[in-house]
Amino acid sequence: MRARSLVIALTALLVLLLSSFAAHALTQAGAQKNTESRVTAVIHGKLAAPIELGVASFAKATTDSWNQHKSRRDFLRTGGMSLAALLLCTGGLLKGRSLSATADYPGPTYPSMQYPSPDYPFKLGVASGDPAPDGVVLWTRLAPDPLHEGGMAQQHVPVRWELSSDENFSTIVRRGAVLATPEFAHAVHVELEGLEPGRFYWYRFKAGSYISPVGRTKTAPAFDSQVESMSFAFASCQNWEAGYYPAYRWMAQQDLDLVFHLGDYIYQWAPMSGVVRHCNDGGLKTLSDYRNRHALYKTDPDLQAAHAAHPWVVTWDNHDGWSNYATLCEDGQKNAARYALRVAYQAYYEHMPLRSLSRPQGPNWRLYRRINYGNLASFRVLDTRTYRTLPCSYGTDSRPSAALEEACTMTGAEQERWLLRALSSPSTRWNVIAQQGMMAQVNQGTGSDEAYNLDAWDGYVAQRKRILDCVRECGTPNPVVISGDMHTSWVSDLKADFDDPSSPTIGAEFVGTSISSNCPTSTIETYKKALGKNNPHVKYFDTRKGGYVRCELTPKQWRSDLQVADSIEDRYSPVRTIASFAVEAGHPGVQGGLTLQGMTSSGRSQAHRKKHHKEKHHGSGQSAAGGGSHPSG
Ligand SMILES: [Fe+2]
Repeated sequence: MRARSLVIALTALLVLLLSSFAAHALTQAGAQKNTESRVTAVIHGKLAAPIELGVASFAKATTDSWNQHKSRRDFLRTGGMSLAALLLCTGGLLKGRSLSATADYPGPTYPSMQYPSPDYPFKLGVASGDPAPDGVVLWTRLAPDPLHEGGMAQQHVPVRWELSSDENFSTIVRRGAVLATPEFAHAVHVELEGLEPGRFYWYRFKAGSYISPVGRTKTAPAFDSQVESMSFAFASCQNWEAGYYPAYRWMAQQDLDLVFHLGDYIYQWAPMSGVVRHCNDGGLKTLSDYRNRHALYKTDPDLQAAHAAHPWVVTWDNHDGWSNYATLCEDGQKNAARYALRVAYQAYYEHMPLRSLSRPQGPNWRLYRRINYGNLASFRVLDTRTYRTLPCSYGTDSRPSAALEEACTMTGAEQERWLLRALSSPSTRWNVIAQQGMMAQVNQGTGSDEAYNLDAWDGYVAQRKRILDCVRECGTPNPVVISGDMHTSWVSDLKADFDDPSSPTIGAEFVGTSISSNCPTSTIETYKKALGKNNPHVKYFDTRKGGYVRCELTPKQWRSDLQVADSIEDRYSPVRTIASFAVEAGHPGVQGGLTLQGMTSSGRSQAHRKKHHKEKHHGSGQSAAGGGSHPSG
């Protein structure tokens, strides 16, 4: 009996010691290179539930600096501020330190940002993504030395996170901890569930004694809820070398529910000369190369601000991968290309706020998915690179018969079945396809000759027809395609037969210009000559780069405002609305331009102002753009 009592006592003592050790580890362990994690029970990317500490023990592990975290109001109202200024907003983090904050972008090469310490692990910022009615993904990556594989030791590191219903973090609704592992470059994906639909939340991370910048996110409305309006932006193609990101600086200050990124988040090629700002070395081949390139892009303060201000939904395009996928069909390059794509998938996942659904499993991953916004809109996000048959040509050419073959596919058979199934059983007012290359036909011939970009949908004619036929035959309500890739702006009708202007108009397509990437002058000249007679379904074309498209939806109308910076060589360039277009519900295609040449982007539709007013009065969050001003002042 005495022996049994002794065993019980010893066991209790052991449990007590282990508990206190875990609390100590979470308090002390951080981003320092020699940190040794004792928490081993959680796999990467899983919600912290398996090791969630509970409010009591978390409170015990919480340090003063975490609790002293101050208001995020300023941050959210000036989302485009420099990272140095962002860090100043983190209150206790910088306690006792003097920081020479500068409003200027530090220059063309990294690193020269001001951080509270060289070991600061949140130099890549924070992000959220893939909102659902009950949850969202929170993201960060520990990387005190971003351009050199992150600078973390090959050890697991506990990272704590907090989710608040207010910007002051006075009401914490969820908290927990996950392990950042070297296998995933110490990236953190917290996949939240059980949240309230259609409302704002604020989030932050802590590793060791360091606290991240604060992000704001928003859950989607309930699946069957009546949604009176929403707004989102879509962007693509942000070649670092081509210039700065004033468009993101402006986007961060906007009142948006969502941001879509439609590909070319990074460019994989080797550094070039004569560029606006230099990128890190080498053409990308290894996992380390891809991680370093992603990290470079993520150091941009305006990109970080746009991520921190809104939830993002991302999909990728050719430059996120490998050499335009071209060498996949060249014998001597096949293995290198396949390897590079595999590591490119991994690095892309590591740097994006993606769900575990999209975590690569070797050469496989799943990027195509659906995002719903109540009964108002659903977005089918495509991956037109991973599963496609190789194009007949990567350039512009007359169309060979192979481009017309039924087997030519941009999506692969399974993704196409998924898409057609979704389009044939719609449940929302607006049905959006969010994808990469332009879907409308563009005949670049100037007379009777024909020339098409065979790398885009013009090289996959039969599949495009299957999709548009499905929309028409099923009566899919209000189809709209949003696209990128062209580095110029296009607004077009989608036709049953692009060669017959009298054929039915099935939907509308908006192609956003690039955030920064160039379109060659010769290509622009070809487009200009070809527009008009050969392409009457194209309603608008603009050559300017450095922008994105902002969209506002109500049950009656879709409105797109094309926002473009005056210059991408100036990080503080003004951003203006160069044109606006509407699509009226029930009338497929672009119904007429609301051209507003030269107006700034400060104007917003009555509908969205009403919605914003309503949200404020229901206490569901406050706009980041509420007091925002134009970046140019
Ligand atoms: Fe691009």
